[in-house]
Amino acid sequence: MAQYAAMRSIGAYVPEKVLSNSDLEKMVDTTDEWIVKRTGIKERHIAAKNESTSDMGAKAASMAIERSGIAKEDIDLVLCATVTPDYFNMPSTACIISKKLDIVNVQAFDISAACSGFVYLLSIAKAFIESGMKKNILIIGAEKFSSIVDYTDRSTCILFGDGAGAAIISATSSKKESIVDIHASADGTYADFLVTPAPGSVNPANQKMLDDKLNFVQMKGNETFKLAVKTLTQDVVEILETNNLKASDIPHFVPHQANYRIIKAVGDSLGMTKEQVVLTVQKYGNTSAASIPMAINDIYESGRLKEGDLMLLDTFGGGLTWASALLPFAGKTK
Ligand code: ACO
Repeated sequence: MAQYAAMRSIGAYVPEKVLSNSDLEKMVDTTDEWIVKRTGIKERHIAAKNESTSDMGAKAASMAIERSGIAKEDIDLVLCATVTPDYFNMPSTACIISKKLDIVNVQAFDISAACSGFVYLLSIAKAFIESGMKKNILIIGAEKFSSIVDYTDRSTCILFGDGAGAAIISATSSKKESIVDIHASADGTYADFLVTPAPGSVNPANQKMLDDKLNFVQMKGNETFKLAVKTLTQDVVEILETNNLKASDIPHFVPHQANYRIIKAVGDSLGMTKEQVVLTVQKYGNTSAASIPMAINDIYESGRLKEGDLMLLDTFGGGLTWASALLPFAGKTK
């Protein structure tokens, strides 16, 4: 019998500390008005000093496991998408989260696709399940972006926040419950649009690299903005067309939460209503790989997401990478 992949649950974790625009006004030459007008962001959450990416990922994952009703012992793969891992080389954050959750002796690894990480993980989970190799996969998008942000650089420090989101993807024989389609792609031509230049094999760790602040994220904001609007719109048009759907068939459009102006431009060009577009950027900022699952968790917790509701995910990030996905929520809802 054919085996399909279904999203059984969602969970998220948001760190306690809030960094507001007025806090940032005291740190760099910026204003609440500029940040809100250019990005839609009002505040973002920042992890505590002793709180790591895996701590946040494990909390989101625990919630997703509990809500799925699937026993921990039945999870046979743990995947984490992050560009702010606990350790830049090894061990992987997925291994550390697995240990924290007491899910040992199963395959676990990280992927790096920046903001597209969670949708990339969905595509990997779908392939593992449809091939019959795995049955219950824990996928996690977790970021401590504050660990690679230069809080003296006003062009980047206003944008990012910390957090984590997770989901359980399980095998099902029901086509109705299954992930409908995923399109994922990349183009390294634009690798320098979003980059943390060090440490790595190009710039190994040393004092000069720290003095030159190469360990912090650098972004060509304006160029990224233009390409994001174009790619995100094109991506959604393509996945809807391939699946004979119209924008009006989608109750929940969940775009990557980087900038309200990008979300609005994409939503408007597709003719999406305010009710269809999920928006969390105002309170979380850009949480990279955690942004999409945190947004899905928001509509889950508010009761907007109902069992079987179709979601359209759309994301864009460093690499450059991009991806879109069409799937029903196949878990129990409030
Ligand atoms: N406060 C006040 N002024 C500022 C600030 C700030 N925080 N930041 C920049 N400015 C100034 C600039 O210095 C510039 O001044 P100038 O005209 O005197 O030179 C002016 O504002 C305009 O700067 P731009 O960079 O052109 O502003 P823009 O409208 O493009 O907005 C922003 C910047 C918000 C970063 C936008 O370009 C953006 O959101 N880009 C896309 C980000 C994104 O989607 N990233 C992808 C995912 S991230 C990932 O994968 C991890």
